[in-house]
Amino acid sequence: MRRAGEREHRFATHPATNIQLIGLEPDTAVDVLNLLGQAGYWNTVLLPSTPRLDLAEEVTPGVVMVGVGAGSTVHLDAVRSLFEARAAAVRVIAVSPYPSLRLRAAALEAGASAFLTLPAERHELLSTVHVIAELHSAHRELSRLKSFPLSTPVDPAVAADRSAHAETTMLHRLMKLIDKVDGGLGKHSRRVAHLAARTAAAMDLPWSSRSALQAAARAHDLGKLVIPRSVINATGKLGYGDIAVMRSHARIGANMLTGAEGRLVCLAREVAASHHEWWDGGGYPRGLKGEEIPLEVRVVSVADAYDAMTNQRTYREALTRGEARKELDRGAGTQFDPEVVAAFSRVLDEEVVVEPS
Ligand SMILES: [Fe+2]
Repeated sequence: MRRAGEREHRFATHPATNIQLIGLEPDTAVDVLNLLGQAGYWNTVLLPSTPRLDLAEEVTPGVVMVGVGAGSTVHLDAVRSLFEARAAAVRVIAVSPYPSLRLRAAALEAGASAFLTLPAERHELLSTVHVIAELHSAHRELSRLKSFPLSTPVDPAVAADRSAHAETTMLHRLMKLIDKVDGGLGKHSRRVAHLAARTAAAMDLPWSSRSALQAAARAHDLGKLVIPRSVINATGKLGYGDIAVMRSHARIGANMLTGAEGRLVCLAREVAASHHEWWDGGGYPRGLKGEEIPLEVRVVSVADAYDAMTNQRTYREALTRGEARKELDRGAGTQFDPEVVAAFSRVLDEEVVVEPS
């Protein structure tokens, strides 16, 4: 029953998505099924929760909510085997009654596309399920477009174009998802993509690379869609635990984009995974250093940092453009690739005002 004044949930747009629950506590499973049912998800099923290693082979394509507990690694193994063998067909939300950072890290390392602590607020649960259901549909559509049978043999170049078109369609769908779930993040993503493409041009990267980079950059913060709103919208200084949760968006974004082959999606995955790595190795999540970080990612890192600094956030005021440029100069050689900062400065010298497209 909705409370007076509460809007009908805007995320219930994929009721036909197959949602399977494995390994949840019985009372929790009933609560989740009720919430999903109220939101219009009718194709839900509760699978036996007896821990077994072959669970990954039993689930059908769709979204799987896997209960991961503090004492058992069996379901984490199921998450891992789903990720490694069936990532193109199955998306996993790890759920746990424990708000444990160690458990979150283990579930993401195993390949989960989201981690939920239950019981969760209705909005957070439905938003997360909606995002992961949309993600599943995007992957399914990409697979369908890529495997579309051709009546006559085609030139390999034409086949490559078709593949690139399918990947572009998928990323465009994910961009629309970002806009829908978090409009502010959508605007940030567009500005970063615009600045990254301009910087790539200033560095004389070929047109095809600039175009791919612009599309990939739009998904750099995809993982933030399933970070709790209480962390994303925090107005004060984040504590250690919330920082760790926020930082997990890089790993989540990479997991979300795993399961699809192709140059463009692989680039988007690398950008999502590594855009917080630092030139001197002091970044996260892997501590990559220098040219271990792909050039395209180093470009996005600078554009991302500049846009973040020059726009107001819930926890701080925006810096002026001049102040932000000084911060970039200060970070050249430590956080940022100095050559990218130099190219970015040339772009800003030419830029009058950056408007989102
Ligand atoms: Fe980020």
